[in-house]
Amino acid sequence: MCGIIGHVGDDDAIETLLTGLENLEYRGYDSAGVAVQNGSGIAIEKRSGEVEELKDSVEEGSLKGHVGIGHTRWSTHGPPTDENAHPHTDETTDVAVVHNGIIENYAELKEWLKERGCEFTSDTDTEVIPHLIQYYLDEGLESETAFREAIDDLEGSYAVTAMVSDEHVLYAARKGSPLVVGIEDDEFFLASDVPAFLEYTDSVVFLEDGDVVIVDESGIECTDLDGNPVRREPETVDWDPEQAGKGEFDHFMLKEIHEQPTSLAQALEGRIDPERGRIRLEGFGPGSFEDVDSVQLIACGTSYHAALYGAFTLRQADVEATALLANEYSVSAPPVDENTLVIAVTQSGETADTLNALREAAADGARTLAVTNVVGSTAAREADDAVFIRAGPEIGVAATKTFSSQVVMLTLLAQRITADRHGQPAADLESLLPELSHAPGAIETVLEGTDAPDIADRYEDSRSYFFIGRGLGYPVALEGALKFKEITYEHAEGFASGELKHGPLALVTPETPVFAVFVGEEDEKTLKNAEEAQTRGAPVIAVCPDDHRAVDVADAHLSIPDTEPELAGLLANVQLQLVSYYAADNLGRPIDKPRNLAKSVTVE
Ligand code: F6R
Repeated sequence: MCGIIGHVGDDDAIETLLTGLENLEYRGYDSAGVAVQNGSGIAIEKRSGEVEELKDSVEEGSLKGHVGIGHTRWSTHGPPTDENAHPHTDETTDVAVVHNGIIENYAELKEWLKERGCEFTSDTDTEVIPHLIQYYLDEGLESETAFREAIDDLEGSYAVTAMVSDEHVLYAARKGSPLVVGIEDDEFFLASDVPAFLEYTDSVVFLEDGDVVIVDESGIECTDLDGNPVRREPETVDWDPEQAGKGEFDHFMLKEIHEQPTSLAQALEGRIDPERGRIRLEGFGPGSFEDVDSVQLIACGTSYHAALYGAFTLRQADVEATALLANEYSVSAPPVDENTLVIAVTQSGETADTLNALREAAADGARTLAVTNVVGSTAAREADDAVFIRAGPEIGVAATKTFSSQVVMLTLLAQRITADRHGQPAADLESLLPELSHAPGAIETVLEGTDAPDIADRYEDSRSYFFIGRGLGYPVALEGALKFKEITYEHAEGFASGELKHGPLALVTPETPVFAVFVGEEDEKTLKNAEEAQTRGAPVIAVCPDDHRAVDVADAHLSIPDTEPELAGLLANVQLQLVSYYAADNLGRPIDKPRNLAKSVTVE
């Protein structure tokens, strides 16, 4: 949602803060700001717009100091104006605060503070925090105690970092929003996410809900809200700073699409033995899933499409499985018991909707598992178990490589679950696993030979874009449409191919290209549905192998290597990712930071 960065150490804080904010821009880019202790109080620069604009303002000014905080915002309370940009302060600018999350009781707190003479300058919920801290300081409390008291007053979700004038200390707390500490000798970083400071250190302390951390030049002190020490050991993250840069590519999204052969190979490494037809998931010995009667997969957005894909492969493997939108879970969750495995599919591991559904399932007695990219994320820590998709950092707001790795991990899990339950896997692993081991190479083939730029040019002036698929092609159609609308801002919809004739066909015209995904399951029916659209004038783009019958029928073709249905969808999805990318590029869209969106959605 928003990105927080903090720095304490001998080096100039401003450079670290601005670099950190650039690295965190995927979390929000409506407005940005920094505050430093400059020797005579707290100096602040903040404004609406992107970090680049903040950088220009900072260069014109003279912010200097070793201790500071910064923020990049994705607006929730109040529009993206200079006033609403973080850091926020009390009237005297003695306290500065950056915050990610939602303070649910801010209206009452604001009223209470106003009655005591506080004046507010923004529409944000955050502004109550510096006023509260100042209130407790005025009451005579020490800074640390004032911070704890203020945090204790808050209801909702937060990652908060605060500083008090002339102190070389940062005070931070988390509940429901991520916050990590980076340690490099006597330099310390606080951030919403590891890529913020990956250039400086890979040694990270993942804070947990309820933690309060005090950071000064001598080190970090982790406690609970009451001040009782809590032990949090630093972990070394194996993400390479190179991975967090754009390299030779114009956009992170294109880089991440091209990283898929590598990220998939990483996801599979040590987990499949194609020769013996075996799947090995670290931490899950034989029989780990033998008590699982049914599976619910909960997720949002792209991860939900991966969950649909996973549920489909599970059902094909004779396991009762349903994919559910996490944000609908509290109103429509099917019953669970201890034999229900609830899998939270979440790249970030921090999506509020998914975490809430996960908590609800756990409270109702289900066994829980997180399939996530982020070691130390809330989902990974809160679920009974975690499987990591090992995709490396994904910076582009549009999820690409993480979808592929999620799909592959869920495919492996499906076979493991069914093997544990029934004594043998449902699929013929001797053919599936070699295909899986060739998946990175097959993606490479797609990337090298793609006609996506031509297709994007050819259909550039269309009115709407439709995506259809059946079986495993259905989640791919949904994902193709989501990606397209998300980064091109053009209207796009995904349908189960059989559904087209039940209503959406009324929208089909020569100006609505239809991308038809063929994965080798009932392709004849999908082709018939595509032809129904074609008869009404719509150009059909077939996503299928070269020797597929659809190639002769369609107006255009995006080629994928011939493979098992479990993987065909994955390869088709890569073609659709590329079409979306090139279409958005033609339109000059800010591809890595589409309007109104953020990478990690930590509010409900
Ligand atoms: C779309 C996209 C989002 C996320 C969704 C869930 O490209 O990235 O739809 O998939 O917000 O995020 P995670 O996977 O972090 O739970």
